Amino acid sequence: MHERIYLSPPHLGQREEQLVLEAFRTNWIAPLGPHVDAFEQELCAYTGAPHAVALSSGTAALHLALAALDIGAGDEVWVSTLTFAASVFPLHYVGATPVFVDADLGSWNMDPVLFVEALHDAARRNALPRAVVLVHLYGQCADVEPIAYACKTLGVLLIEDAAEALGATYDGRAAGTFGDVGFYSFNGNKIITTSGGGMLVTPHAQVAQRVRALATQAREPVPHYEHRQLGYNYRLSNVLAGIGRGQLEQLDARVAARRAVSERYQTRLGALPGIAFMPEARYGRDGMRSTRWLTTLTIDAARFGANCETVRVALEAQQIEARPVWKPMHQQPIFAGCRVFGGGVADALFAEGLCLPSGSSLTEAQQERVISVVQSCVQTRSAAA
Ligand SMILES: Cc1ncc(COP(=O)(O)O)c(C=O)c1O
Repeated sequence: MHERIYLSPPHLGQREEQLVLEAFRTNWIAPLGPHVDAFEQELCAYTGAPHAVALSSGTAALHLALAALDIGAGDEVWVSTLTFAASVFPLHYVGATPVFVDADLGSWNMDPVLFVEALHDAARRNALPRAVVLVHLYGQCADVEPIAYACKTLGVLLIEDAAEALGATYDGRAAGTFGDVGFYSFNGNKIITTSGGGMLVTPHAQVAQRVRALATQAREPVPHYEHRQLGYNYRLSNVLAGIGRGQLEQLDARVAARRAVSERYQTRLGALPGIAFMPEARYGRDGMRSTRWLTTLTIDAARFGANCETVRVALEAQQIEARPVWKPMHQQPIFAGCRVFGGGVADALFAEGLCLPSGSSLTEAQQERVISVVQSCVQTRSAAA
């Protein structure tokens, strides 16, 4: 039996081990500590973000972003519909109401034209949302400039969910640094990982300060334990931050490796009938660089001869993990009844989309196994015809 090929496994080096050992040797095992401070500073240096707060997950980062921006009950927040549910769950934690916005085919991210029109229409009706959660999907930046401009002009807060897009740039600037708050995830499947963790970035010193306080049980700065607001226990441990620092040193190499994986898939599978890869969008004055965190494609079953689920099952039978594209949020039972602008594009991408194994440690031989299974699916149909 073949060894299993995972969708996006952790890729660790020796430096991470050294840094974790350092935490052990210096007894900095508690949450916070020198690795956390250094990880925040190093991430600021990498992304250009003025302030960063290391947290226990990307989900916690979004939760605290909403809390620190005073978004809560009665507030509407517009969110990309083609995403993972963690882009939306925290809205419910604070009692806000999500409204979903469709993707466009050119980027699979929030459709900027649809969004800007809907926002201006809402302004005319005096029904603007408080905030927007703009997701940068599968390592690719959304068309952030027109969206950020409309938000700024109309006084709507912009939160960037860059959980999947650390290392991606738009106009030469890091994903996550355009809005009032951005955040990254270091979950085990992300381009760099701390096993579990997240980082909130913001240009606003006050927001960073508030998030820091909320994340440490909202203790007032007095010697005894004094609390004036609800707090959370959301900070990252010093041990995990050590892993993160080692990983961050390798981020550019990881991006290059994932892009190389993606290029091989496109070269080897791109000519098959009915296959189309997630396009790399060409927007921004200085362009956009996707990390290709996950290489994702659509399969037109009529032309290919098998649908994406058949291909996924064929891969699984060979111990290869592939995943359907995110099921849109407006289709999720938990969010039934929420409003949505459009939705048809995200529906189509979910119906036909598949994510292939894309890890930065994927070897060429492993990738050949994936490629040959996909190729064999199209041949199945020719044989049957
Ligand atoms: C788009 C998106 N948003 C949010 C999250 C949540 O991040 P975390 O798992 O670190 O809580 C993830 C990943 O898990 C994600 O893919």
